[in-house]
Formats: sequence, structure tokens, C-alpha cells
Amino acid sequence: MFWERIRYLFAKARRAWSDGTLGEKTRRFLIASVRIPCEVTLAYLTLSRPDRRLDLASGFVDHRARPGHRRSKPEHVGRIIAAYHASKQAQQIADPAFQIRGVWAEWIDVNSRELIAALNEADEARLAALFENLHREPFTAGAGRGYDDYLRYRTSLTGRFYFRSVWCQYRDLYRELGGQLDDLRYPLVGNPAGMPFNGDVIQINTIRHAYHALEMQQWLRDVADAIVVEIGGGIGGQAHQLMQRADAHISKYVIFDIPEVASACSYFLLSAFPDKRIRLFGEGPVSVDASEGYDLAVFPHFEIRHLADNSVDLFHNACSFSEMDGAAAAAYLRVIERACRRYFSHINHDIRFTYRNSDGSTSTNLLGSEVVPDPSRFRRLYKKPRVFCLPEDRFFPAYEYLYERLAGAPDGEVYAT
Ligand SMILES: C[S@@+](CC[C@H](N)C(=O)[O-])C[C@H]1O[C@@H](n2cnc3c(N)ncnc32)[C@H](O)[C@@H]1O
Repeated sequence: MFWERIRYLFAKARRAWSDGTLGEKTRRFLIASVRIPCEVTLAYLTLSRPDRRLDLASGFVDHRARPGHRRSKPEHVGRIIAAYHASKQAQQIADPAFQIRGVWAEWIDVNSRELIAALNEADEARLAALFENLHREPFTAGAGRGYDDYLRYRTSLTGRFYFRSVWCQYRDLYRELGGQLDDLRYPLVGNPAGMPFNGDVIQINTIRHAYHALEMQQWLRDVADAIVVEIGGGIGGQAHQLMQRADAHISKYVIFDIPEVASACSYFLLSAFPDKRIRLFGEGPVSVDASEGYDLAVFPHFEIRHLADNSVDLFHNACSFSEMDGAAAAAYLRVIERACRRYFSHINHDIRFTYRNSDGSTSTNLLGSEVVPDPSRFRRLYKKPRVFCLPEDRFFPAYEYLYERLAGAPDGEVYAT
């Protein structure tokens, strides 16, 4: 584990050197390695005695041999391979605005090599092994954070203080919103690392997703058979939290993400929801029309162009628009402006990044506060500081936004500046 971590850091440093961000990343790394350990130790000491005694260790053991662990199904793995190959083929002729550049190009390059090799070679056995260890494999780094918690727990002296204090803080925020602790559930898919709770393993992000699922349910309470689209859905944690709420009345939840991440997300959702109808790319049209017979879908990000005007009740994006190239975020905004018929929510930071891409070009992001839909069609219901903030994210001022489409706003293509 130690050498794996060193290799990972070395690969990241080499990549940061070539894209011109090594100085900034080193500064943040040094601050984080001194300030955060002090902060989380103090936070741990102020926890109540029962919280300090929560049995964290058994949440971080290997769960793959546990009763109830969901083994991978060859049929699922075969479908994921087919969808990935179809996605990579379609990606060759996709709108250049959706090219993956900047930080996610780096992360896919550094973290997903093994996954990509197994997908390209259609190596079902290797893929099954990687997916069954989901959450603890590098290809899930940054896409929902379970992997980062696992690494920190295993390699940092204060990793346990970090996890326990942040987990308890998130749980308390969820409760303050009216969230029921009994509703905090997570299936034994892959190898999650987190707090043993309700007989499940609850990761820090599961609580954040459960909180936002409650909010979404509130916004959509008067919409029958709501259609939700998430851009950059990661491993599918947000989709899982909303779709497992039977009283949420969501008819379709559709995720658009980078093909490599979409393959991991597909695995998670197929295993987590054996009784739901799930569509992957190539298995039917990229359409959210009521006549399409599926409950959840995972599609490659650039295929979002197929969404019909006025077809989606809620678009959601978290920690993603401000991490991608600005051209991509702007292109998504154009789609949202024409396809959204009700709400658009996003949670993004306000730090400008400029990356040097491997082809020598640079990539600059849009700030969260710049991701604003056309004001003649949408009104902002709120902008507020983000509710959940990890200790290392204090460097990033970030906000939550909720927009609503104005009644009577014109349909069709818009070219707002
Ligand atoms: C930090 S993760 C957030 C995941 C999830 N939204 C959450 O809050 O747990 C960022 C996500 O954005 C996705 N992403 C990055 N660039 C993207 C792009 N150009 N189009 C769609 N998704 C993208 C990543 O693959 C990843 O799933």
C-alpha cells in the first residue's frame, strides 16, 4: 500500500510538472499535510464519546468475502464492454467542445490505465476483479471520493480522525435537514470503505448524496414521474440515493459521464439495482421520452446533444463543471437551456485553473459562478455556500445554485453570452 501510494504520487507529480501546475499543487499539498492533520485531530477530540467509539475499523476491512457481497455478473460485464466500445467509437466524431481536457484528462491518464486496458481487451475476468474491488481501485479516484478516504485511512496517521470527524459532521448535517438515519443505506457492491452503519458500509459521500436526494425530492414533489439528468455522475452515488427512495417518484435518472467513468458507474448501478431496467449506450436511443422502457441510463457525456427540448425536469451537476474544460461546461449549459423544463442545480467552486494539455494547448475552466443559464429563460432561486466542505476543500470557495425555468420561456436553441 505504501509503495502503491508513492507510485501514485510520483505519477501525479510527473504529470503536474508537464502541465505546469506542479508549483501550485506542491503548495496545496504542503498546507494540506500540516494543517489538515491538526484540524481533524482537534475535531476528533471534540466528538462525543459514542462517536469516538464508532467501530470504524470493520468498515475498512476487505468486504469481498462477506455474506451479502454482490458478485459481478458476466452478463453485466459483457454489456459494459459493449457500451464502452460503442462510446469510444462515437467519441471519435463527437463535438470537439466535449473533448476531455485539463484535470480529467490527467486523472483518466494516471488512474484508469488498468481499467482501460481491460475494457479494450474485453478481458472479462480482469474487469470482474476490478469492479468487485470498486471504491478501492485508482480508477475511482476523484469520482465520488471513496478511494481517497480508503487511501487516507490506510496511509495517514490521522486518516482515522479525518474519516470519523468528517463522517459525523456530514451525518449531523443530514439529520438537520430532516434526513432519517434509517434511510442511510448502501449496497455491498464493490469494496466500499466507510462506517459500518445500518448493517451497510456508509461512505462520507453517501451522506452528501443522501442529503441532496432529499433536496431533489422536495423540489420535484409536485412533478409526476420526474425525469432527472445528472452530468458527471461519478460512480452513481447520487443516482442511487435518489432512486432508492420509493416515495421520490422519479421515472428516469440518466447519467452522462466520460466513457471510462461511465463504465464503473454502469457496474455500480447494474449491481445495486438488480430489479430496475437499466440502459447503457448502444442498447437503445439516447432519449428520455416516456415511451423508452428504462428506469436508469448511463451514457457517454457527448451524447447529451440528443436530449429533446423541454424534456428534463431536473439537471444536476456536482463538483464537475468547474473541473472540466470551459468549452465543455459552456456546451452543457446550451443543452440545459433548451432541454430543461423545470430545475437546474449545480454545486461548483470558484477557482480558475489553467492546465497545459499534452498537445501543448491550454485548458481553462469556467467558475461555478459563471455557469449561469440565460436569464431571459431562467431565474435563480438561490446561491448559497456549499453545505458539505471537506477539510482540503477549504481552498476552494464553492456555492450551490438552483435555477428554475421561467413559465412561458421560449423553446429551442439559445445563444446567450
Ligand atoms: C468530482 S467527480 C463528482 C462526481 C459526483 N457528481 C459527486 O458529486 O459525487 C466529477 C465528475 O465529473 C465528471 N466529468 C469530468 N469532466 C467531464 C465532462 N467533460 N463531461 C461529463 N462529465 C465529466 C467526472 O468523470 C466525474 O464523474
